[in-house]
Parts: sequence; structure tokens; C-alpha cells
Amino acid sequence: MTGVDVASLLTERAAEINTALDQYLPPADRFPGRLHEAMRYAVLSSGKRLRPTLLLEAYGLFKTPSEAPLAAGCAFECVHAYSLVHDDLPAMDDDELRRGMPTVHAKYGEAMAILVGDALLTFAFELITEKVQPEDLAARIALELSRAAGAAGMVGGQVLDMDLEPDADDDKTKLHRLHRMKTGAMITGALRAGAILGHADVNSLAAITTYGEKVGLLFQLTDDILDVTSTAGEMGKATGKDSAAGKTTFPGVYGLEESKELARRLADEAREALAPLGIRAERLGALADFIVTRTN
Ligand code: IPE
Ligand code: IPE
Ligand code: MG
Ligand code: MG
Ligand code: MG
Repeated sequence: MTGVDVASLLTERAAEINTALDQYLPPADRFPGRLHEAMRYAVLSSGKRLRPTLLLEAYGLFKTPSEAPLAAGCAFECVHAYSLVHDDLPAMDDDELRRGMPTVHAKYGEAMAILVGDALLTFAFELITEKVQPEDLAARIALELSRAAGAAGMVGGQVLDMDLEPDADDDKTKLHRLHRMKTGAMITGALRAGAILGHADVNSLAAITTYGEKVGLLFQLTDDILDVTSTAGEMGKATGKDSAAGKTTFPGVYGLEESKELARRLADEAREALAPLGIRAERLGALADFIVTRTN
């Protein structure tokens, strides 16, 4: 599988998604203006837009472009942006820099950052309910997003990450479970939502799900590696914090070299999972390679 210009793919998708987010989000002058300004600040900063990109690519395997997958992708991105706003709060990772800019609480205050997260989470479901038709398909997408984001997904993973619950697992078991939940679930959910919107058959949905589980874990694994090997300038967020904060990370549990090897293996496994979808899935294969080699 070669010949995909993944840099252009990501740039083009990000432009398409940024335009849609700008249109969908409430304008800053709608009352209460400061809340809407802060919501736009949280979302419209320079994110990679990976989750909506994966959703659109999964959808594109089955159907030609329409508004529903773009709106659903924006909904996943809004939930992702909310998770970052809350992740950066003083009670959580206590970070001042995100996407190369002051974090939402650093700029607008802690109370507003909490409320921005609440509003983005709620808005995501408004977007799905309004823009995805027919209603039973909207309900299926809302179910995917709520499962990915909630206690069995991202929020549950954050609880494990913060050690807010006693955990009897050994480090390796805990690490895989917490990464699968805090990051993997939203990535898998976005891919599944794309396939469901495209009316994928059962076998194709299973292949996309397995691919999602592999790249989801891979994505947090590379985030852990970059926390050790990269700089704040390159990442647009603080680095070198995980071990200082006593986080359970791949480099912490496996060491840096074995973590890099595991990352390579996961990218290969992600590609293998796409085999039933044939050559048309080569763009998703290239995205797995991008995730393993990413620098921010
Ligand atoms: C950062 O996600 C948080 C993790 C789940 C590791 P991204 O690396 O996708 O962040 P943005 O959206 O590009 O800023
Ligand atoms: C956060 O993981 C994952 C989320 C659910 C937001 P991290 O805490 O490692 O993400 P960064 O490094 O701050 O982006
Ligand atoms: Mg965190
Ligand atoms: Mg963090
Ligand atoms: Mg991190």
C-alpha cells in the first residue's frame, strides 16, 4: 500500500473540517458572548482534526460525500476539544499551553473552562441530532459518541489515568486498559461512526473497529513517547510531564526502545486489520503510518 500523500490528505481534511466547525459553532456575539468566544477558542485552535478525518475516511470507503459525516465528525471533534479543556485544568494535568496557545482556563478562568467543556459536550449531541438523518441513524451515531466519551470510554480512562480509583491490575494490564479507554475509545468510535453512516456491512464494520482499536492505542502510545522525546515548541503543549506526575505510560512501563517497537508493531497490525477492505482502504493504512511517525 503506497502512493498516498498523507500530508496533503491531512491538510485537505483539516481545512474542510475547520470550515464546518466555524459554521456550526455558535457565533461569538450570541449571548452569552464570552462563553461562545471561549468555545470557539477551544475548538478552532490548530488541532490535527484526526478523529473527524478518520470518520470521513471510514465513511468514504462506502459512500460519496454528504453533510451528515462532516457534522458527525465535528461532533467528535467538539467532544475531543472539551476533553482537552478539562484535561488541562489545575485539578487534572494543570497545563498552561495547548495547541501552542494559553489553555482555556489560563485565558478565561477555571469556571469558564469547566462550563466550556460542558457546553461543547452538549453541543456535540445537538449537532448530531440536527444534522444526521434519518432519526434512527442519528440515534446510532449519538450512541457511538456517548459510549466512546463516557464512563466506559474517555472519562473512565481519565479516572484510571488520574488514579482516582484503586486498581488491582498490574502495570501492563492497567496501561493497556487506560489507554484503550481514555484515547482509543474516541478514535475507534469516530471510525465506527463513519462506517455506520456509510451503511457498512457487518464484516467491514468489524475490520474498521479492529483497525480503530489498534490506531487508538497507537495514538496514545506515540503521545507518551513524544512526551519524553519532543519539545513544547514542537508539540504546542508541555512535555516531560508524565513521569514527573507519576503517570502510567508506555515508556515508563516498557522503556523507550520497546515502546517504539510496540508502536511499529501496532501500525502493522492496524494495516493488517484493513485487509478485508482491499485497496480502497489504503488511505487509512497511510494514516496508521502517519500516527507512528508523527512529530506533534
Ligand atoms: C491529544 O490529542 C490528546 C490525546 C488523546 C493524546 P491530539 O494529539 O489529537 O490533539 P490535537 O487535537 O491535535 O490538538
Ligand atoms: C489526555 O491524555 C487524553 C484525553 C482524554 C484528553 P494526555 O493528558 O496525555 O493528553 P495531553 O498530552 O495533555 O494532550
Ligand atoms: Mg491527562
Ligand atoms: Mg494532559
Ligand atoms: Mg500526553
